[in-house]
Amino acid sequence: MAARALLTRKTLATVLRNDAKPIIGAGIAAATHSRGLHVYTLPDLDYDYGALEPAISGEIMQLHHQKHHQTYITNFNKALEQLQDAVAKKDSSAVVKLQGAIKFNGGGHVNHSIFWKNLAPVREGGGEPPKGSLGWAIDTHFGSFEALVQKVNAEGAALQGSGWVWLGLDKELKRLVVETTANQDPLVTKGPNLVPLLGIDVWEHAYYLQYKNVRPDYLKNIWKVINWKYASEVYEKESS
Ligand SMILES: [Fe+2]
Repeated sequence: MAARALLTRKTLATVLRNDAKPIIGAGIAAATHSRGLHVYTLPDLDYDYGALEPAISGEIMQLHHQKHHQTYITNFNKALEQLQDAVAKKDSSAVVKLQGAIKFNGGGHVNHSIFWKNLAPVREGGGEPPKGSLGWAIDTHFGSFEALVQKVNAEGAALQGSGWVWLGLDKELKRLVVETTANQDPLVTKGPNLVPLLGIDVWEHAYYLQYKNVRPDYLKNIWKVINWKYASEVYEKESS
């Protein structure tokens, strides 16, 4: 906790040095750049870095949050600032050129923000299979909860390179889907009606320090700390 508090203060100090106005709300530090641009900041986790052990080590969680996620945010902010300049200069080729960096780093920020919510310590209900309407929907679409886990693990393990495996809701067809996306592509790139309920990061940075190159073992263990309460809340809100 202390390390995170320190980081938040450090982030704010950096923002302040850039003549921005800090705004704190809903536990998330946010700020507005002096030119009126929103500055994205690292969201706090709802648990300590070591609270997901032994499924995910505290060392992985700290690095993943403080270094990897922070880097996506830093580069997203930078790209948006450059975009604002390019638009002001009516430089269309520069605008187009920036789309890749915005998609990659903005996607990284969006995906990791969901990922942290998808995890919870065992003592706070992590790993407890979903009940209620999401539990029913999983049985209907996949046969059983175990069948869903198997499908996600198989698709996550088969994904080449870096990416994400998702459980999503297709709001139009009103059905659950399992999808994978490459790199930092968010789920919505697979269909405009797809809403992420659960996203599992299968980049090596999410597991290598603990599981080395054995991604299937990481996938097997992550279910012990999945926050189904969060996924159920999103499902109920989006399917009503
Ligand atoms: Fe990641």
